[in-house]
Amino acid sequence: MENTNHMWKSRWTFIMAATGSAVGLGNIWKFPYITGEYGGGAFVIIYLVCILLIGIPVMTAEIMLGRAGRKDPIASVKAVSQQSGANPAWALVGGMGVLAGLMIMMFYSVVAGWALDYVISTGSGSYAGANAATIETNFADLTGSFSSQLLAHSIFIVLTALVLIGGVTNGIGRAVEILMPVLFVLLLVLLGYSWAAGDFIAGLKFMFTWDASKITSDAILTAMGHAFFTLSLGMGSIMVYGSYMTSQASIGKTVITIGLFDTVIALVAGMAMFPLVFANNMEPSAGPGLMFVTLPIAFANMSYGSLFGTVFFLLVSIAALSSAISLLEPSIAWLERKGFQRSGATIALAAVAWLGGVCSIYSGEVFNALDYLTANVMLPLGGLLIAIFTGWIVSRAVIKEQMQFTSGLVATLWLWLLRVVAPAGVIIIFANSLGLLS
Ligand code: TRP
Repeated sequence: MENTNHMWKSRWTFIMAATGSAVGLGNIWKFPYITGEYGGGAFVIIYLVCILLIGIPVMTAEIMLGRAGRKDPIASVKAVSQQSGANPAWALVGGMGVLAGLMIMMFYSVVAGWALDYVISTGSGSYAGANAATIETNFADLTGSFSSQLLAHSIFIVLTALVLIGGVTNGIGRAVEILMPVLFVLLLVLLGYSWAAGDFIAGLKFMFTWDASKITSDAILTAMGHAFFTLSLGMGSIMVYGSYMTSQASIGKTVITIGLFDTVIALVAGMAMFPLVFANNMEPSAGPGLMFVTLPIAFANMSYGSLFGTVFFLLVSIAALSSAISLLEPSIAWLERKGFQRSGATIALAAVAWLGGVCSIYSGEVFNALDYLTANVMLPLGGLLIAIFTGWIVSRAVIKEQMQFTSGLVATLWLWLLRVVAPAGVIIIFANSLGLLS
């Protein structure tokens, strides 16, 4: 598949694309609110350990599989299992990933639509000076309105498809080269605002104070599960992106860079939000409403709140867009291999995702079922199988060729993290999310 428009222009473009996939609603919406719910500092530390011990090794494995197979996730895993003399049925891991990506898109784009809607409502100044009750009602109205959500969700899917139709080099590559630096600048602007207008010290204290009493088994499990989701692992997003990476680039260095970006952006997002929450004497533990209710209330009470509120929701929309393209790319790559034109494949799959999105707008039960099934079943299962496959099944020859380890110690450490630590971690998350541990 080393044909034109199917390779990243440079290692940097790959880093931007993978960071774009990783940095999304998970970082800006979910990470701050679970940090809020689980009490701050101790949770953040556990999360960082999970990124290091589970996230980084599994991400390395996914990129390696993609680059070794050089195809969509299904065909890549199949190719690597054949090269390793293993059962080609391992390709089912790729198949589950392709399906999971479509299913995640069916609710992800609804939430992304809310963010788009907020760009308009905040930007038009309709929240300026509004009281808490008004803002709460507005959010309830939005999530209760079929037509508003349908419009926003449709716009978001069309934007995603437009980027994808352009291909890998000229579509995704060019989009992320513009979007990611913009996202970073917007985030720094918000950090500056939060520093100037918020209670920055209270925010920092909340995020980085170690309080051992906050370490519950629930906090550890949530941190572990989130480490997985935030790095886009377990479904082939990163695998298919890896298949477009040049053979010379170092996978190890690239993964560390992406992991650092994702982590720094999540932490900065927290540091940009909590000081505003504390400056307005509000609670950091509002749950999913933290971003859509608590934060707009804070902005409504602050000078230049409408302006910075708009910047904030623009940032969220960009982050969601660069993640959404990675949710559909595995299935597009798969249809392309089956002989479809890229444009036709993109339109067909975007239509499927759109229809699924309409169902999850229509019924909260569909929304929740899609969320539950992907996040709690398919992603952990995918991650578990990827770790086991890479750690125990893939031949040493393939690993050696792809990884070019210069240190035997690093190689051994990576292999054992994949063989034992990551699977154990994932099995525990898995058992817990299925309710087997309580
Ligand atoms: N990582 C993204 C976020 O934090 C979401 C995402 C994109 C994802 N692709 C993925 C999650 C693949 C799991 C698997 O919002």
